[in-house]
Amino acid sequence: MKVICTEKSQILGTSLARALKTPVVEVKYSRFPDGEQYLITGELDDETIIVGSVVDNDALVQLLLIIDACDSSENRLVIPYMGYARQDKRFRQGEPVSARAIALALSRGVSEIITVNIHETEVLRYFGVPARNISLAHNIGSYIKTLHLDNPLILAPDEGALVFARHVASAGGWEFDNLEKNRLSGVEVQMAPKQLCAASRSVVIVDDIISTGGTIATASGMLYRQGAKDVFAVCVHGVLTGGAYVRLMAAGIRDVICSDTIEQGCSKISAASQIANAIKEQGP
Ligand code: R5P
Repeated sequence: MKVICTEKSQILGTSLARALKTPVVEVKYSRFPDGEQYLITGELDDETIIVGSVVDNDALVQLLLIIDACDSSENRLVIPYMGYARQDKRFRQGEPVSARAIALALSRGVSEIITVNIHETEVLRYFGVPARNISLAHNIGSYIKTLHLDNPLILAPDEGALVFARHVASAGGWEFDNLEKNRLSGVEVQMAPKQLCAASRSVVIVDDIISTGGTIATASGMLYRQGAKDVFAVCVHGVLTGGAYVRLMAAGIRDVICSDTIEQGCSKISAASQIANAIKEQGP
Protein backbone atom coordinates (compact mmCIF):
# COMPACT_ATOMS: atom_id res chain seq x y z
CA MET A 1 0.00 0.00 0.00
CA LYS A 2 1.16 3.54 -0.76
CA VAL A 3 -0.30 7.00 -0.18
CA ILE A 4 -0.54 9.69 -2.83
CA CYS A 5 -1.87 13.20 -2.30
CA THR A 6 -2.68 16.41 -4.11
CA GLU A 7 -0.59 19.54 -3.57
CA LYS A 8 -3.16 21.15 -1.27
CA SER A 9 -3.31 18.02 0.91
CA GLN A 10 0.40 17.28 1.08
CA ILE A 11 0.83 17.76 4.84
CA LEU A 12 -2.17 15.61 5.77
CA GLY A 13 -1.20 13.09 3.06
CA THR A 14 2.31 12.61 4.41
CA SER A 15 1.06 12.52 8.03
CA LEU A 16 -1.36 9.79 6.97
CA ALA A 17 1.42 7.84 5.25
CA ARG A 18 3.45 8.08 8.45
CA ALA A 19 0.49 6.92 10.56
CA LEU A 20 0.01 3.96 8.22
CA LYS A 21 3.80 3.30 8.12
CA THR A 22 3.62 3.27 4.35
CA PRO A 23 5.51 5.22 1.65
CA VAL A 24 4.16 8.34 0.03
CA VAL A 25 4.36 8.61 -3.76
CA GLU A 26 6.05 11.70 -5.18
CA VAL A 27 4.18 13.60 -7.86
CA LYS A 28 5.62 16.14 -10.30
CA TYR A 29 3.23 18.91 -11.26
CA SER A 30 3.34 21.35 -14.14
CA ARG A 31 1.04 23.13 -16.55
CA PHE A 32 0.62 23.21 -20.30
CA PRO A 33 1.06 26.64 -21.93
CA ASP A 34 -2.71 27.16 -21.91
CA GLY A 35 -2.87 26.61 -18.15
CA GLU A 36 -4.16 23.03 -18.18
CA GLN A 37 -2.70 20.91 -15.39
CA TYR A 38 -0.27 18.05 -16.01
CA LEU A 39 1.19 15.62 -13.50
CA ILE A 40 3.26 12.47 -13.43
CA THR A 41 3.49 10.15 -10.46
CA GLY A 42 6.38 8.13 -9.10
CA GLU A 43 6.15 4.35 -8.79
CA LEU A 44 2.71 3.20 -7.65
CA ASP A 45 1.56 0.11 -5.76
CA ASP A 46 -1.34 -2.25 -6.49
CA GLU A 47 -3.26 -0.45 -3.78
CA THR A 48 -2.97 3.29 -3.31
CA ILE A 49 -4.70 5.55 -0.81
CA ILE A 50 -5.44 8.78 -2.67
CA VAL A 51 -5.85 11.88 -0.49
CA GLY A 52 -7.20 15.18 -1.76
CA SER A 53 -9.42 17.91 -0.37
CA VAL A 54 -11.67 19.67 -2.82
CA VAL A 55 -10.66 23.15 -1.66
CA ASP A 56 -10.96 24.78 -5.08
CA ASN A 57 -11.47 23.91 -8.73
CA ASP A 58 -7.75 23.34 -9.42
CA ALA A 59 -7.56 20.91 -6.50
CA LEU A 60 -10.58 19.06 -7.87
CA VAL A 61 -9.03 18.67 -11.32
CA GLN A 62 -5.71 17.59 -9.77
CA LEU A 63 -7.54 14.94 -7.74
CA LEU A 64 -9.33 13.64 -10.84
CA LEU A 65 -6.00 13.44 -12.69
CA ILE A 66 -4.33 11.56 -9.82
CA ILE A 67 -7.21 9.07 -9.61
CA ASP A 68 -6.85 8.44 -13.32
CA ALA A 69 -3.05 8.12 -13.15
CA CYS A 70 -3.27 5.59 -10.31
CA ASP A 71 -5.52 3.39 -12.44
CA SER A 72 -6.30 0.42 -10.16
CA SER A 73 -9.68 -0.72 -8.92
CA GLU A 74 -8.04 -1.46 -5.53
CA ASN A 75 -7.49 2.22 -4.80
CA ARG A 76 -9.30 4.03 -2.04
CA LEU A 77 -10.01 7.74 -1.94
CA VAL A 78 -9.94 10.02 1.10
CA ILE A 79 -11.68 13.39 0.65
CA PRO A 80 -10.79 15.27 3.84
CA TYR A 81 -12.80 18.35 2.83
CA MET A 82 -15.39 18.05 0.15
CA GLY A 83 -16.09 21.41 -1.39
CA TYR A 84 -19.45 21.79 -3.14
CA ALA A 85 -21.06 19.52 -0.50
CA ARG A 86 -23.17 22.40 0.83
CA GLN A 87 -25.16 22.49 -2.43
CA ASP A 88 -26.59 19.07 -1.58
CA LYS A 89 -30.09 19.73 -2.89
CA ARG A 90 -31.80 21.54 -5.71
CA PHE A 91 -33.00 24.48 -3.62
CA ARG A 92 -34.45 26.28 -6.66
CA GLN A 93 -35.56 25.07 -10.05
CA GLY A 94 -32.66 25.16 -12.48
CA GLU A 95 -29.91 24.62 -9.91
CA PRO A 96 -27.51 21.66 -10.01
CA VAL A 97 -27.10 19.26 -7.11
CA SER A 98 -23.41 20.14 -7.08
CA ALA A 99 -22.56 17.63 -4.33
CA ARG A 100 -23.91 14.83 -6.52
CA ALA A 101 -22.01 16.00 -9.60
CA ILE A 102 -18.71 16.10 -7.68
CA ALA A 103 -19.40 12.82 -5.86
CA LEU A 104 -20.07 10.97 -9.10
CA ALA A 105 -17.00 12.42 -10.83
CA LEU A 106 -14.75 11.32 -7.94
CA SER A 107 -16.19 7.79 -7.72
CA ARG A 108 -14.83 6.55 -11.02
CA GLY A 109 -11.63 4.52 -10.52
CA VAL A 110 -11.74 3.93 -6.76
CA SER A 111 -13.25 1.14 -4.68
CA GLU A 112 -14.17 3.06 -1.55
CA ILE A 113 -14.39 6.65 -0.33
CA ILE A 114 -13.80 8.11 3.14
CA THR A 115 -14.90 11.66 3.96
CA VAL A 116 -14.26 13.70 7.10
CA ASN A 117 -17.13 15.61 8.71
CA ILE A 118 -18.87 15.96 5.38
CA HIS A 119 -21.34 18.84 5.65
CA GLU A 120 -24.34 16.53 5.25
CA THR A 121 -24.01 12.72 5.49
CA GLU A 122 -26.91 12.41 3.01
CA VAL A 123 -24.31 13.31 0.36
CA LEU A 124 -22.63 9.91 0.88
CA ARG A 125 -25.41 8.26 -1.11
CA TYR A 126 -24.40 10.27 -4.19
CA PHE A 127 -21.07 8.45 -4.53
CA GLY A 128 -21.05 5.58 -7.00
CA VAL A 129 -19.02 3.36 -4.60
CA PRO A 130 -19.33 2.61 -0.86
CA ALA A 131 -18.60 5.77 1.14
CA ARG A 132 -18.32 6.45 4.86
CA ASN A 133 -17.77 9.53 6.93
CA ILE A 134 -15.58 9.92 10.00
CA SER A 135 -15.75 12.69 12.59
CA LEU A 136 -13.01 14.70 14.25
CA ALA A 137 -15.30 15.71 17.15
CA HIS A 138 -13.21 13.70 19.60
CA ASN A 139 -9.93 15.12 18.28
CA ILE A 140 -11.34 18.62 18.69
CA GLY A 141 -12.38 17.75 22.24
CA SER A 142 -8.86 16.49 22.97
CA TYR A 143 -7.41 19.72 21.60
CA ILE A 144 -9.72 21.83 23.77
CA LYS A 145 -8.42 19.91 26.81
CA THR A 146 -4.93 21.22 26.05
CA LEU A 147 -6.24 24.80 26.46
CA HIS A 148 -6.85 24.05 30.19
CA LEU A 149 -9.99 26.18 30.28
CA ASP A 150 -11.95 26.31 33.50
CA ASN A 151 -15.40 24.77 32.95
CA PRO A 152 -15.72 25.80 29.26
CA LEU A 153 -19.07 26.05 27.52
CA ILE A 154 -19.06 24.27 24.15
CA LEU A 155 -21.37 26.12 21.84
CA ALA A 156 -22.80 25.23 18.43
CA PRO A 157 -23.54 28.30 16.28
CA ASP A 158 -26.93 26.82 15.34
CA GLU A 159 -29.14 23.87 16.13
CA GLY A 160 -27.79 21.94 13.14
CA ALA A 161 -24.35 21.75 14.77
CA LEU A 162 -25.66 20.72 18.21
CA VAL A 163 -24.89 16.99 17.81
CA PHE A 164 -21.35 17.88 16.79
CA ALA A 165 -21.02 20.15 19.85
CA ARG A 166 -22.34 17.33 22.07
CA HIS A 167 -19.70 14.94 20.70
CA VAL A 168 -16.93 17.52 21.21
CA ALA A 169 -18.14 18.24 24.76
CA SER A 170 -18.23 14.54 25.66
CA ALA A 171 -14.40 14.45 25.42
CA GLY A 172 -14.16 16.59 28.56
CA GLY A 173 -17.57 16.09 30.17
CA TRP A 174 -18.30 19.78 29.49
CA GLU A 175 -21.65 21.51 29.14
CA PHE A 176 -22.85 22.26 25.63
CA ASP A 177 -25.58 24.29 24.02
CA ASN A 178 -26.46 25.99 20.76
CA LEU A 179 -26.90 29.62 19.91
CA GLU A 180 -30.38 30.81 19.22
CA LYS A 181 -31.38 33.91 17.28
CA ASN A 182 -34.06 36.10 18.83
CA ARG A 183 -35.51 38.98 16.85
CA LEU A 184 -35.73 41.96 19.20
CA SER A 185 -37.14 44.37 16.62
CA GLY A 186 -37.40 44.82 12.87
CA VAL A 187 -33.68 45.56 12.67
CA GLU A 188 -32.24 44.04 15.83
CA VAL A 189 -31.40 40.36 16.26
CA GLN A 190 -29.85 38.93 19.40
CA MET A 191 -27.92 35.66 19.59
CA ALA A 192 -27.53 33.87 22.90
CA PRO A 193 -27.06 30.31 24.14
CA LYS A 194 -30.47 28.61 24.13
CA GLN A 195 -30.38 27.31 27.71
CA LEU A 196 -27.11 28.17 29.43
CA CYS A 197 -25.53 31.46 30.43
CA ALA A 198 -22.21 32.57 28.91
CA ALA A 199 -21.41 35.16 31.62
CA SER A 200 -17.96 34.74 33.22
CA ARG A 201 -17.29 31.60 31.19
CA SER A 202 -14.83 30.59 28.50
CA VAL A 203 -16.89 29.76 25.44
CA VAL A 204 -15.68 27.52 22.62
CA ILE A 205 -17.77 27.82 19.48
CA VAL A 206 -17.44 24.64 17.42
CA ASP A 207 -18.62 24.06 13.85
CA ASP A 208 -17.86 21.85 10.88
CA ILE A 209 -16.87 24.77 8.63
CA ILE A 210 -15.70 28.32 9.14
CA SER A 211 -16.06 29.97 5.77
CA THR A 212 -16.39 33.78 5.89
CA GLY A 213 -16.36 33.72 9.69
CA GLY A 214 -19.51 35.87 9.65
CA THR A 215 -21.59 33.57 11.85
CA ILE A 216 -18.95 33.24 14.56
CA ALA A 217 -17.81 36.89 14.46
CA THR A 218 -21.38 38.07 15.08
CA ALA A 219 -21.90 35.46 17.80
CA SER A 220 -18.66 36.37 19.56
CA GLY A 221 -19.58 40.08 19.80
CA MET A 222 -22.90 39.13 21.39
CA LEU A 223 -21.31 36.62 23.79
CA TYR A 224 -18.83 39.23 25.02
CA ARG A 225 -21.74 41.62 25.59
CA GLN A 226 -23.37 38.87 27.64
CA GLY A 227 -20.26 38.74 29.83
CA ALA A 228 -18.30 35.81 28.34
CA LYS A 229 -14.73 35.73 29.69
CA ASP A 230 -13.20 34.68 26.38
CA VAL A 231 -14.37 33.10 23.14
CA PHE A 232 -12.51 30.54 21.03
CA ALA A 233 -13.50 29.26 17.57
CA VAL A 234 -12.68 25.67 16.59
CA CYS A 235 -13.74 23.91 13.41
CA VAL A 236 -12.89 20.92 11.27
CA HIS A 237 -12.65 22.69 7.92
CA GLY A 238 -11.00 26.11 7.99
CA VAL A 239 -12.12 27.46 4.62
CA LEU A 240 -11.36 30.97 5.95
CA THR A 241 -12.32 32.83 2.82
CA GLY A 242 -12.30 36.62 2.33
CA GLY A 243 -10.09 37.46 5.30
CA ALA A 244 -12.10 35.36 7.75
CA TYR A 245 -9.18 34.82 10.15
CA VAL A 246 -8.59 38.57 10.53
CA ARG A 247 -12.32 39.18 10.83
CA LEU A 248 -12.55 36.68 13.69
CA MET A 249 -9.51 37.99 15.53
CA ALA A 250 -10.83 41.55 15.10
CA ALA A 251 -14.10 40.36 16.65
CA GLY A 252 -12.15 39.46 19.79
CA ILE A 253 -11.87 35.69 19.29
CA ARG A 254 -8.96 34.51 21.46
CA ASP A 255 -7.85 31.88 18.97
CA VAL A 256 -9.10 30.28 15.75
CA ILE A 257 -8.20 26.63 15.36
CA CYS A 258 -8.95 24.19 12.58
CA SER A 259 -7.82 20.75 11.45
CA ASP A 260 -5.57 19.94 8.51
CA THR A 261 -8.40 18.81 6.22
CA ILE A 262 -7.68 22.24 4.75
CA GLU A 263 -4.05 23.14 5.34
CA GLN A 264 -3.92 26.53 7.04
CA GLY A 265 -1.55 28.30 9.41
CA CYS A 266 -4.03 27.60 12.21
CA SER A 267 -4.34 23.86 11.44
CA LYS A 268 -3.43 22.57 14.89
CA ILE A 269 -5.46 19.35 14.83
CA SER A 270 -4.60 16.51 12.46
CA ALA A 271 -7.11 14.18 10.86
CA ALA A 272 -4.31 11.68 10.04
CA SER A 273 -4.74 9.20 12.91
CA GLN A 274 -8.53 9.06 12.55
CA ILE A 275 -8.24 8.45 8.81
CA ALA A 276 -5.51 5.83 9.37
CA ASN A 277 -7.79 4.01 11.84
CA ALA A 278 -10.66 4.07 9.34
CA ILE A 279 -8.39 2.64 6.64
CA LYS A 280 -7.06 -0.07 8.95
CA GLU A 281 -10.59 -1.01 10.08
CA GLN A 282 -11.48 -1.79 6.51
CA GLY A 283 -8.20 -3.66 5.99
CA PRO A 284 -6.17 -4.03 2.81
C1 R5P B 1 -23.26 25.96 7.59
O1 R5P B 1 -24.21 25.23 7.53
C2 R5P B 1 -21.95 25.53 8.15
O2 R5P B 1 -22.06 24.52 9.09
C3 R5P B 1 -21.21 26.71 8.76
O3 R5P B 1 -21.95 27.16 9.88
C4 R5P B 1 -21.09 27.81 7.75
O4 R5P B 1 -20.52 27.35 6.58
C5 R5P B 1 -20.25 28.95 8.33
O5 R5P B 1 -20.21 29.97 7.38
P1 R5P B 1 -19.54 31.36 7.68
O6 R5P B 1 -18.20 31.11 8.32
O7 R5P B 1 -19.44 31.99 6.32
O8 R5P B 1 -20.45 32.11 8.59
